Amino acid sequence: MKIIDFYNFKKGNKISMITCYDYSMARILSKTDIDCLLVGDSLSMVVYGYDSTIYASVDVMAEHTKAVKKGIGNSKMIITDMPFLSTRKGMNYAIEVAEKIIKAGADAIKIENIEDQRDIISHIIKSGIPVMGHLGLTPQYIKSLGSYSKRGREIKESKKIIDDAIKFQEAGTFSIVLECIDEKTAGRITKKLKIPTIGIGSGNRTDGQVVVINDILGLYEHVPPFIKKYEELDIKIINAVNKYIKGVKSYENDK
Ligand code: KIV
Repeated sequence: MKIIDFYNFKKGNKISMITCYDYSMARILSKTDIDCLLVGDSLSMVVYGYDSTIYASVDVMAEHTKAVKKGIGNSKMIITDMPFLSTRKGMNYAIEVAEKIIKAGADAIKIENIEDQRDIISHIIKSGIPVMGHLGLTPQYIKSLGSYSKRGREIKESKKIIDDAIKFQEAGTFSIVLECIDEKTAGRITKKLKIPTIGIGSGNRTDGQVVVINDILGLYEHVPPFIKKYEELDIKIINAVNKYIKGVKSYENDK
């Protein structure tokens, strides 16, 4: 899949995106029909155990992107999050971080919010790096947002999110993630934009969906209420490890 293919998702075929953080999972995902992978800064929480996404550093995002690229090859498009504050330290720094992430193997980067960083986003795009936007509940802003609650329920906030989505499109982004946005607001944005919207916790009126892989597989304990679990791999892992231990204790582990 290429950037240009994203526009086809406006025609009804829904886009499926899932997070991926390492080589082994990327190898497994290469055998699925998933449309694209997100090396999300959610790895700060689900891989490293922090309580927010702000601890994912540039080096960490680049290393995980390299691991995912090794596992996925050229079979799926990789989008990687620009980490916390990396677009807030001036144009040169933002371009350097974007360059590092692209050279690590990403095909595009994702940036949370557009307010006060429109010029930087346009510059990155004009420099040849495709950008995906992210609006609504933007976890890098959790300290000022205060909670992980739904956005866009009130008219003023809904209008602001719609305006920002238009600004993202005008800046040249190829798609926007809408996280935890009121379903009607997400639907309005999706109708208004020419670029596809990808929802998470924002209902089904978007052009596609994204999930954190650990959440749907039962590998993380703090799962948002809107997430459907498709597997309980934690239980399978506990059972497998306990069987292994039993084998070790009874000297049967070479079987
Ligand atoms: O970091 C992440 O995994 C994300 C998704 C939840 C959209 O940004």
